[in-house]
Amino acid sequence: MKLLVIGSGGREHALVWKLAQSPRVDEIVCIPGSAGIATEPKTECVSLNEEAGFSGWCRFAKDRQIDLTVVGPEAPLAAGMVDAFQKESLNIVGPTQAAARLESSKIFAKDFMSRWNIPTADYSTCDTADQALDFIQRCRYEFPWVIKADGLAAGKGVILAKDFNEAQDTLLHFMTEKIYGDAGARVVIEECLKGRECSFMVFSDGLHVVPMVPSQDHKRVFDGDRGPNTGGMGAFSHDSILSPAQRDQIMRTIVEPTFSGLRSEGISYRGILYFGLMLTARGPQVLEFNCRFGDPETQAVLMRLESDLAEILEAIPQQRLDRLKTTWSTKSSVCIVLASGGYPGSFEKGKQIQGLEGLTAHPDVKVFHAGTRKSSDQGEFETSGGRVLGVTASGVGLKQAAAQAYEVCKEIHFEGMHYRTDIGAALV
Ligand code: AMP
Ligand code: GLY
Repeated sequence: MKLLVIGSGGREHALVWKLAQSPRVDEIVCIPGSAGIATEPKTECVSLNEEAGFSGWCRFAKDRQIDLTVVGPEAPLAAGMVDAFQKESLNIVGPTQAAARLESSKIFAKDFMSRWNIPTADYSTCDTADQALDFIQRCRYEFPWVIKADGLAAGKGVILAKDFNEAQDTLLHFMTEKIYGDAGARVVIEECLKGRECSFMVFSDGLHVVPMVPSQDHKRVFDGDRGPNTGGMGAFSHDSILSPAQRDQIMRTIVEPTFSGLRSEGISYRGILYFGLMLTARGPQVLEFNCRFGDPETQAVLMRLESDLAEILEAIPQQRLDRLKTTWSTKSSVCIVLASGGYPGSFEKGKQIQGLEGLTAHPDVKVFHAGTRKSSDQGEFETSGGRVLGVTASGVGLKQAAAQAYEVCKEIHFEGMHYRTDIGAALV
């Protein structure tokens, strides 16, 4: 089977790494991929002219006789890539543009949850700055208030405003100054939920749902969840993130009503759905939906997948997930992100990375590349992004997994490199 994977980050590296292990897979093409992804067996990275658009990608998939396409990031899903491929009868894993509104419009997602009684924070939606400013004058939620830009804002569109002034400033930035363009033209204002966060991803073929093991990410840049939010400084997966009772409750009160709601609204959801949850005293509540694999949760979760990922993904457009038995390791896994100096603020690129060569001595550790490239002169790996590498390990228990990952982090070096030292520690 020939696969096409769209994307270039640590999540896509993990997908390609796992797919390449499948005996069913002969060839993987990754657009655009990365120098790190290109090191995986059977894999080729290709840059396509972006102006070719989805019709160019469809042509490419036909010319290369691709059997199945897997989309990593949200932007192509929100822009209708799946619709374009389906129109050409090409097999693809991912929701249609209409279904991807669960991620691309927070207003759509909140109204959807309200229609189907899916537990989530109390909220109000505002279409104009005047309406929003008027709402906060009367708002009775306790501080902080959560203000969310409606559209995609690269993970920066959610602000927890600690007081009235910060809320007012945020609304002006989003709605009047339009710092995120049209994405912030409308907003959701919601109550702040308290508890522990959990990422719960499932495979869906429109008829059947197969849950993955639970995981948790660490969004803040510094230890102890301090400092600004990032794209994710690490993640871990461990069975005791959820008790069996919590898992059943999530399936019953959140996952099942979501898919039956989608079906009732005429949407056959064929892809990965990510439920960002808060485990509150009132039970699990939905913070957000993502219409794709999480990053960096996927790196930790795929480390525990024993089944053939290619077989699972192939079953999605064919709507036969029910015929597969998916098995997961009982081990735990931890992914630690090594970031560039200054990230999530501005940072320099082009720092040479040392220590990547001798890592085969650690069989339970895999280093996924998120922001690296080959230098033009010596062909060595150097940094090219804020999040550079995801050092991912499995072990018997979180403590062992974390210890193995941190041992490898100490062997890697680039100027300015920083990482959190407490990934998974809260549950150890
Ligand atoms: P989102 O992009 O909607 O996932 O929001 C990003 C992050 O903001 C979440 O992972 C939470 O840490 C936080 N967040 C979002 N909504 C809420 C809420 N209602 N209460 C508390 N924290 C929230
Ligand atoms: N880790 C959160 C996300 O993928 O959006």
